[in-house]
Amino acid sequence: MVSADPLAARALALDVLMRVEGLGSHADATLADALASARLAVRDRALASRLVYGTLAWQGRLDWQLARLADRDCASFDPRIRMTLRLGLYQITLLDRVPPHAAVATSVDLAKRAVPAASRLVNAVLRRAARERGSLPLPDPAADPLEHLAVAFSHPRWLVERWRRRFGDDVRDLLAANNEAAPTILRARPGERDALVSRLTAAGIACEPGRFAPDAVRVQAADPHALPGWSDGAFSVQEEASQLVAWLLDPRPGMRVLDACAAPGGKSAHAAERMRDEGTIVAGDRRRRGAATIAWNAARLGLRAIRPLVMDARTADATLARGSFDRILVDAPCSGLGTLRAHPEIRWRRTPEDLSRLATTQRRILDAVTPLLRPGGAIVYSTCTLTDEENAGVVDRWLAAHPTLRRERADEIVPPTARTLVDDDGALRTLPHRHGLDGFFAVRARRA
Ligand SMILES: C[S@@+](CC[C@H](N)C(=O)[O-])C[C@H]1O[C@@H](n2cnc3c(N)ncnc32)[C@H](O)[C@@H]1O
Repeated sequence: MVSADPLAARALALDVLMRVEGLGSHADATLADALASARLAVRDRALASRLVYGTLAWQGRLDWQLARLADRDCASFDPRIRMTLRLGLYQITLLDRVPPHAAVATSVDLAKRAVPAASRLVNAVLRRAARERGSLPLPDPAADPLEHLAVAFSHPRWLVERWRRRFGDDVRDLLAANNEAAPTILRARPGERDALVSRLTAAGIACEPGRFAPDAVRVQAADPHALPGWSDGAFSVQEEASQLVAWLLDPRPGMRVLDACAAPGGKSAHAAERMRDEGTIVAGDRRRRGAATIAWNAARLGLRAIRPLVMDARTADATLARGSFDRILVDAPCSGLGTLRAHPEIRWRRTPEDLSRLATTQRRILDAVTPLLRPGGAIVYSTCTLTDEENAGVVDRWLAAHPTLRRERADEIVPPTARTLVDDDGALRTLPHRHGLDGFFAVRARRA
């Protein structure tokens, strides 16, 4: 039994945040590594996770307010002190469960460990924040509506501008949804969802079936890898919208399938399960480590149909035989802007230039793999982003360049529970603010 320690969770969160900022690493993997080697009580693990995700999501707004509270530019702080201030202000202004005095005291203790001379500054800034927390300023919406949205909802201005054009008045709901905690979603083995719900419930774990994907289970758990069933392969961890992609691909037992961008292997594994592990899935990825992860995941689930392959999908037609696949999935490298709940840091890393660069890669991959499809075979293009450049923009140009492809309506293929997620053009399109899911986009086409 590990006893609760108010500083330990915050110190762990601070270290994770420093690594995410300093090394450009992923928050989820960095946090998982840190938690794996920490001796923290369950409550403190949950607090550390919330602090990491919340501080990253709200960073833009926290920095804007800190600059006014301290009367200086945030960039001028020592990086560890700046992060300590963000962490403290996040608790004071956005986290109900922490009393402001505790947020101030623990932040001052963290500062004393890092840069003792700065602890008075941290104390002064956060005490002022605690006093004024009901009336901290935001940009004036009348003077600059865009700046107001960007700061109030903590997103980069360029993204808010783009999404306001795209989503109109719904943009506020989208920005707010992106700042919510991501739910934990499991994918049971096909047809075994109710058995998994019973098993988890019997172990005292709150859970319920998902709304859209037939094998999905929503669960209240900070660490799904510690749940009963993980070690014996009863479930995988996969967001519900992501689960729908293999349903749209609809692979059948005995088929030959190419998953062109497969690591870490979530959709390959799902496809293999739906094929009853009969047939072949060539699971390619450009990264050698990615291919190793695919193999590890397949072994955990006991799936033999998956054949990991290190390959660059942009030149797949140079090594794989034309017309040799019944199904092809291009789950493309994308900006990931549909997954901000689970990956809040992405919003601060992406630039507008990334979108056109990614769209070029996506088109090159599609052009290279399309000839590998056999006549009558089906191909799915999917992303976890909400930008038109990477979604409809890529698909329109791809289909125009390959006249043998016929677009198919997703609502004629996905399970009935997911039909409401299909747009007028027949694409699967999920939205965080409308469906409570990650923002995914997927289109299927068949070769004549
Ligand atoms: C969205 S992720 C795939 C997620 C995976 N389908 C799953 O469900 O677990 C995109 C993957 O594409 C890989 N990738 C990026 N460029 C690639 C390329 N040119 N060829 C093949 N894979 C590539 C990345 O390494 C990354 O693993």
